Amino acid sequence: MFPLVLDEWYLPLIMTILAISLLSLCVGRGQDRRNLPPGPRVWIPLIGNVLEFAEEDTRKPLRRLRKKYGNVYRLYVGTRLCVLICGYKAFKEAFISRGDEFSYRPHMFITDKICQNKGIVCSTGDIWKKHRKFALITLRNFGMGKSILEKRIHTEVSVLLSSVNKQNRQPFHLSAILSMNLSNVIAAIVFGRHFNRDDPRVVQILAAVNENNINLGSNCVMNFYPLLRHLPGDLFKMKRCLKNVDLIEEYINEIYYKVLEEYDESKVEDFISAYIKEMKDQKGKNETTTFTLDQLCKTVTDLFAAGTEAITVTILWSMLYLICKPEAQDRMFSEIRNTVGLERLPSVQDKRDLVYTEAFIMEIMRHVQIGYLGFPHSVPHDVVFQGYTIPKDAIILPDMDSVLSDPDVWGDPELFRPERFISKEGTVLQPDEFIPFFAGKRRCLGESLAKMELLLYVSALVQRFQILPPEGMTMSIEEYDGVFGLHHAPKPFKMRAVPRSVS
Ligand code: HEM
Repeated sequence: MFPLVLDEWYLPLIMTILAISLLSLCVGRGQDRRNLPPGPRVWIPLIGNVLEFAEEDTRKPLRRLRKKYGNVYRLYVGTRLCVLICGYKAFKEAFISRGDEFSYRPHMFITDKICQNKGIVCSTGDIWKKHRKFALITLRNFGMGKSILEKRIHTEVSVLLSSVNKQNRQPFHLSAILSMNLSNVIAAIVFGRHFNRDDPRVVQILAAVNENNINLGSNCVMNFYPLLRHLPGDLFKMKRCLKNVDLIEEYINEIYYKVLEEYDESKVEDFISAYIKEMKDQKGKNETTTFTLDQLCKTVTDLFAAGTEAITVTILWSMLYLICKPEAQDRMFSEIRNTVGLERLPSVQDKRDLVYTEAFIMEIMRHVQIGYLGFPHSVPHDVVFQGYTIPKDAIILPDMDSVLSDPDVWGDPELFRPERFISKEGTVLQPDEFIPFFAGKRRCLGESLAKMELLLYVSALVQRFQILPPEGMTMSIEEYDGVFGLHHAPKPFKMRAVPRSVS
């Protein structure tokens, strides 16, 4: 079958295989010499260990690898060294106790190109610290006292309820209306009175935000294989993503100048005005500042990107579980009817009474783990961690699944059991190992906003509608589990929303 004579065509092929094998041996040796954490051997350098975890649900191979190599192990994705940190003890030591070292972000092709160490999510060092602190304080100020935040969320919840009602009990995809609606919450916070959901320009910008959120999963590949950028066309949607970023930033620029023109220090009620105030304050003190228009654009883009998709996906999962677990839906509805009633929308003040509803949302987050590998971290210099060296160019991945589904912590992690978050006294428990929002210095900046949105959206949908599968259909979680992109999302599904009778 194979010709035994080595002609010109076969020679380069054999040389290449020999070179790859040699290189592979070198990589293997190099790993041992650097005292890296243990991990599977690299046979083909260009691919790394990708085949070790090439399954749709990567949590499964990662669980096997943890069993084999322990709580700190390494993998090569392409030629990039990744170190996985598993289990709450190692997670706490790295990201909480040694948070100053483990809160850096690694250099990666896509993030460097889009973020340029600006904004919050991908930035590091002084810029990150100052902008994170500013954004946290600003969001907190908007959320407290005057309850501006709850009012804004309620406005959008009402719009959503009315769109759902218009579906007229027919099967529909909630995802299409939900993500746009949730982007409106961030837009209202960021743009304040300059925000008008019917303005075609706003619609175009929010569509660009949503498109980028969806495509981030596919263009992430280029972080590990940047040479792919030379392929013709735009297979990984990188050009499209950059075009959208330009569009979004151009719009933020325009609003910035409008807000600046009308700036009134006594009416700081949106994120852009708060940022302008900070710029002016720092200028007044003659401080060298990192608060610039460029930074504002990236920070706002981060709030949109991080603040829309994760909530959308969590609410979609909640709807799917409510459909598949009608007894949980009945219990949630009874709780809402008996405490809030059916006349007004549930509010943040009702949180103390909505114990089962809150426990249900927490169990959704634990059970489905929408972002089970967090965002990539790095260290500013080589560090020794649990006896191993982690080099400064390594990508450090927090394996949040290893904490959220650890049998030693949860006992029966595979079961969906909201009751695990309810104490004997009937209050909501907050175990340290419940880390869907991460922990330590990079803990989710939008956690309070996210918790507020989840409670207000899910409880309002259940208060007003019975959430059902399309008529004549039975649905199961397993059937719709299975989109593993940047977030772990359910496959597209249709649901029915039947208005509840008030009597
Ligand atoms: C269900 C909803 C959400 C979940 C599960 C979630 C989860 C997370 C996680 C796990 C991280 C940390 C990643 C890491 O560094 O390893 C994070 C960071 C972040 N989140 Fe969220 N998030 C949610 C909603 C939001 C919302 C609504 C906002 C918007 C205000 C937001 C803004 C951010 C930002 C800006 C960061 C980066 C923080 C930093 O690097 O310092 N998130 N989120």
